[in-house]
Amino acid sequence: MPTDTVRLVSVGMWTPARVMTNAELEGMVDTTDEWIVERTGIRERRIADDDVGVVEMGYRAAQDALERARLEPSAVDAIIVSTATPDRLLPATACDIEARLATGGAVAFDVWGACSGWLYALNIARGLIASGQIETALCIASEKMSAITDWTDRATCVLFADAAGAAVVQRAEEDGRGILASYMRSDGALAELLHRRPIGSSSVPVDVAELAVRDGHLRMAGREVFKNAVRSMCEAVDAVLEQAGVAKDEIDILVPHQANIRIIEATAKYAGLPMERVWVNVDRYGNTSSATIPVALYEAREAGRIQDGSLVLMVTFGAGLTWAGTLLRW
Ligand code: ACO
Repeated sequence: MPTDTVRLVSVGMWTPARVMTNAELEGMVDTTDEWIVERTGIRERRIADDDVGVVEMGYRAAQDALERARLEPSAVDAIIVSTATPDRLLPATACDIEARLATGGAVAFDVWGACSGWLYALNIARGLIASGQIETALCIASEKMSAITDWTDRATCVLFADAAGAAVVQRAEEDGRGILASYMRSDGALAELLHRRPIGSSSVPVDVAELAVRDGHLRMAGREVFKNAVRSMCEAVDAVLEQAGVAKDEIDILVPHQANIRIIEATAKYAGLPMERVWVNVDRYGNTSSATIPVALYEAREAGRIQDGSLVLMVTFGAGLTWAGTLLRW
């Protein structure tokens, strides 16, 4: 069947109930609420319980999205999951979520795009639908950043947190709505700016004797990441607008990756958008890696800030470094 257009039918989300405030972090590392708010915009974040992993979180967000789309799991042809914090490395997180949903055979696989992973997943779903291979995809981001955070490192532990988001993506008749443009890039030369050493991998085989000393936490060169983040998100803005032939002032709402309010403000300024036309929730959730955009989309839609026909611009960056943008008319 030829492609008409590819549309987000619904968005779902799940966040843990447990709230960790900046005041709580003041008791854990040498930091202050004032420093965190001024430098990052974050006031509080959600932290999942020890026994809740990304399969559970992603499953709940996926169920929410399916219910909102009024679809049974059997309607899903593909499950594409973005996570930097899988419960286990084999099989893919998507396969474990497929088992929970019981779709009856949907293809299920993960993408490793760090914070850009959900927009990568969306673009892969768009391609699978456009090429006629599938009709319906579930694009899920599920991130338990608290599990890989060094809670003694004040430079990172104030930033990251846990959340999951999911969207049902489907073929639809062309009527001007749907995904209008997609852009994906990476620069592996910048990988050391934000990385995590494995406990066992192809280059560092599992060694039981070293488990006690090996550091498996996320490490980041914050200032360098910051500079590259602004540059790459602005590049993604230009790329998708040019692809779609859309001017900056036509954008109804910018839904950016929520890493730091200063990065968001710099991107909005570049896109020529006042902050009233930008969805910001980094103050309440912190940086939940690739889950930030679906969670923000969900909230913006629920708040009535995304209406049918709204022109929505999403841009992101993450470890890799990776960056991406998607423009859609809801
Ligand atoms: N509390 C108090 N002081 C702190 C803290 C803290 N939590 N963290 C760092 N500092 C100190 C530093 O030690 C430094 O002190 P010094 O001047 O005595 O050396 C000072 O504050 C300034 O440090 P900078 O790193 O220059 O602070 P900056 O203004 O750059 O803010 C931050 C740091 C918030 C990390 C910022 O660089 C940033 O947001 N970078 C991007 C991070 C990011 O987006 N990461 C995720 C990207 S990908 C993904 O989403 C997975």
